[in-house]
Amino acid sequence: MVQATPFLLVLFLALGAHSLAVKKCSLAGHWVNDLGSNMTILTVNAKTGIFAGSYHTAVTATSNEIKVSPLQGAMQKSPNQKGQPTFGFTVNWSFSDSITVFTGQCFVDDHGKEVLKTMWLLRSHVADIQNDWKATR
Ligand SMILES: *[C@@H]1O[C@H](CO)[C@@H](O)[C@H](O)[C@H]1NC(C)=O
Ligand SMILES: *[C@@H]1O[C@H](CO)[C@@H](O)[C@H](O)[C@H]1NC(C)=O
Repeated sequence: MVQATPFLLVLFLALGAHSLAVKKCSLAGHWVNDLGSNMTILTVNAKTGIFAGSYHTAVTATSNEIKVSPLQGAMQKSPNQKGQPTFGFTVNWSFSDSITVFTGQCFVDDHGKEVLKTMWLLRSHVADIQNDWKATR
């Protein structure tokens, strides 16, 4: 709790609405997507932006039993990056020989709820270069 002097209190009230609008999205925590997959991002290193976590997918194109898989990523920490942070991470699937990379940005919606907007590429293993054309989804 911050002890607000009258001056700071007035300043805070004046900045209140603005501060809410620019609440910084924090990547650390538990996330669930629209398919029911979920992931946990552990602490994001305050200096480097590097983070690790785990991904539990609800869907797979394989017939293998799904297992929780490790992920490693980086959040953009450049001082030039104002506002909501961009990030990328790699999921090293524990139950297949595939790899997925995600890239995205963390947002705070109008209700103050944190949302990740991401895109991904899944690289499946193929036997040889002739099959490369079908390896990425
Ligand atoms: C995470 O997702 C998996 C796969 O859908 C599900 O079985 C599990 O209950 C979920 N865990 C949490 C904590 O949401
Ligand atoms: C990636 O996954 C494989 C298969 O589970 C495992 O042997 C390897 O240690 C993992 N590497 C990393 C960096 O997570």
